[in-house]
Amino acid sequence: MSSIIKSSTKIFSEVPISLGERSYRILIGANLLADGGVWEGVPESHHAVIVSNSTVAPLYSDVLRNAISSRYAQVHEVRLPDGEEFKNWQTLQTIFDVLLQKGCDRKTILYALGGGVVGDMTGFAAACYMRGIPFVQVPTTLLSQVDSSVGGKTGINHPLGKNMVGAFYQPQRVVCDLSVLTTLPQREFSAGLAEVIKYGPIADMQFFTWLEDKIEAVMAQHPEALAHAVCRSCEIKAEVVGLDERESGLRAILNFGHTFGHAIEAGLGYGIWLHGEGVGAGMVMAAELSCRLGLVDEIFVKRLMSIIDRAGLSVKGPILDSKDNAGRYLQLMRGDKKSEAGEIRFVLIESPGKAVVRSAPDRLVREVIDACCS
Ligand code: NAD
Ligand code: GLY
Repeated sequence: MSSIIKSSTKIFSEVPISLGERSYRILIGANLLADGGVWEGVPESHHAVIVSNSTVAPLYSDVLRNAISSRYAQVHEVRLPDGEEFKNWQTLQTIFDVLLQKGCDRKTILYALGGGVVGDMTGFAAACYMRGIPFVQVPTTLLSQVDSSVGGKTGINHPLGKNMVGAFYQPQRVVCDLSVLTTLPQREFSAGLAEVIKYGPIADMQFFTWLEDKIEAVMAQHPEALAHAVCRSCEIKAEVVGLDERESGLRAILNFGHTFGHAIEAGLGYGIWLHGEGVGAGMVMAAELSCRLGLVDEIFVKRLMSIIDRAGLSVKGPILDSKDNAGRYLQLMRGDKKSEAGEIRFVLIESPGKAVVRSAPDRLVREVIDACCS
């Protein structure tokens, strides 16, 4: 459970991630970037490198640099191009180029300042550089604060599949400054809400009911509502990751909606639909499949569709192929990391608040895709 902490200047919540010697803390609160207190205990060294992108760096890298500069002799910066389409080998290489050009040693610490794309790539760079250097996640999108910065999944995309090359590698700390979300475009905020919504059906229907009541307040970034949404999401993720760090079983439930969602992202070309937008429509398809398998009723599916719609997300998936749309989805989903021997494994809702990973007959999946795309 989270606890409320007072640092030298600010009040924030703390969610622990318990992973033995890889344990760390998620700190959540307003105006945290500039607060010296939240960085206490992060490793000190000669070099620190802020890895960000061309959109986020101009907004926040000076604030972060000022807050951490007393801990390092040199603070360098890498600015990556902005976009999911740049989450690849070529961009990763530019991080290594700077680290080597600046003489960064194996005590160097990386700060990932940005959304999930920057976080996933920086974490992977940290996992690989000199066989592993420490890094800190400073997530600046809602999606990255409630999901991608937590739990140590890092990596890049391959043209043939999303997040197909990567490593499990845990950060030293995650600092979620809620104030930076004020500059996030509304479309990105809505995409992040998809990952918040997912925690209800898979783990906590009380949280889902709370969200049904407060979704407009969260979207308006009312401080208490936003803080609760981020904290509860992080608590649920922390619990799941603490039980199954490397996804040998349980952790797969965090991918509710992602099997269909990844197919949408890859099928349209990365960056056309945002990750969270694919997850939103993907959750509807996974819920509909659960319903047609007799696991949940139509009322549950309608509740889920309603909140996804109120979050500003599409409840329908796009047409990926005008001739055989369901066939194209199936083809893309067979490449999903959860697939086993070509059999697609779906995260389904066994009963509201409880997820299960299982296969389903192609015929039924086709029916669901036909019903849920337009
Ligand atoms: P993103 O990183 O592309 O950020 C979205 C956009 O918002 C970008 O244009 C970015 O520059 C901009 N931005 C970020 N912070 C901002 C701010 N405070 N103000 C203004 N603009 C800002 O997208 P995302 O949704 O954060 O992350 C999606 C990525 O996360 C995907 O690649 C997905 O695969 C990955 N992901 C990883 C995990 C994991 O467990 N590692 C989980 C979920 C998603
Ligand atoms: N976002 C899914 C996971 O972290 O496992």
